[in-house]
Amino acid sequence: MIRVAFYDTKAYDKPSFEYYGENNAIQFHFLETKLNEDTAALAEGCDAVCVFVNDCVNAAVIDKLYNSGVRLIALRCAGYNNVDVRVAFGKIHVVHVPAYSPYAVAEHAAALLLTSVRRIHKAYNRTREFNFSLSGLTGFDLHGKTVGVIGTGKIGRIFIDICHGFGMRVIAYDLYPADGIDYVPLETLLAESDVISLHCPLTDTTKHMIDNAAIEKMKKGVVIINTSRGALIDAEALLDGIKSRKIGAACLDVYEEEADIFFEDRSGHIMDDELLSRLISMPNVIVTSHQAFLTEDALNNIAETTVNNILSYYNNDGMCENELCYRCGNIERCKNDRKQRCF
Ligand code: NAI
Repeated sequence: MIRVAFYDTKAYDKPSFEYYGENNAIQFHFLETKLNEDTAALAEGCDAVCVFVNDCVNAAVIDKLYNSGVRLIALRCAGYNNVDVRVAFGKIHVVHVPAYSPYAVAEHAAALLLTSVRRIHKAYNRTREFNFSLSGLTGFDLHGKTVGVIGTGKIGRIFIDICHGFGMRVIAYDLYPADGIDYVPLETLLAESDVISLHCPLTDTTKHMIDNAAIEKMKKGVVIINTSRGALIDAEALLDGIKSRKIGAACLDVYEEEADIFFEDRSGHIMDDELLSRLISMPNVIVTSHQAFLTEDALNNIAETTVNNILSYYNNDGMCENELCYRCGNIERCKNDRKQRCF
């Protein structure tokens, strides 16, 4: 039996992980707490930990896990910016779920876009109060508008297909261009887009890529969508851009300081995060709490792939095709050849 400490458990996690775990001799210990330096000790006696986007897997946590015998960190998500893979290298193997449903995220981005530009969120609240006024609900056609997509990987490409369906002109920016996409320099994308959607990972170079200087270059009235990672946007700069009327709308599924706020019911609490409060109070900002991935299809895929990752690590001589490898340059492409195995 492989024992796995499962941090930051939510009610929606359990059914799929229990199902796949029980059928594959994996015992998940479901913990509500997030992983951090104080809670790493709870993994004592476990072979692996299973973590999510807001668990903190820094150097100190990795050392504590390593010293208590943990040899595998199984991320049940695609992004790994919360794991210090450099420090983990040589001690603990790190696996992730590279794709579980890129459709879920791309479709959520499209849902946010439509909600925002057609004021569906306002109309929904109004008609529930039997207010049938159309005042202030004027939107704009997406057809013929320009959307700029930053990051054209799995999710970005599906979002591009959806936007083509709306009859939008699509331009894109990526460090590694793919065939069949109209790429432009980032400056051009910022200057020409009516809608900008972020689909690149959070790295040292992409942190705050949407800052005051970037917003300055954008069209007046631009709609910004972020379903990727909160820190891609400097939220102070975003708020300034909204207050100055430069930004027409913001659709945020992620927020830089979301870790202690999102995924929880805070409705009975005073909100300490002034910036988030200000953003939410704006009539042209829509916030969802990191829910873009949350479809039944995605949850099943996440559980199945995570369990397969754990099994292949323990039953396949440590080999796992979804290993993140610091040494391999392209972190998601460990050579996975026994002879060339990195550690
Ligand atoms: P992917 O790895 O398939 O694509 C990422 C793309 O970004 C790649 O084409 C890459 O070349 C590009 N890129 C990297 N650095 C860049 C830079 N500096 N400038 C422009 N492009 C750059 O990843 P995928 O699956 O499309 O996911 C994208 C992001 O979506 C993830 O990194 C993750 O943060 C986020 N995500 C959010 C979810 C949510 O529930 N809100 C769920 C899943 C992923």
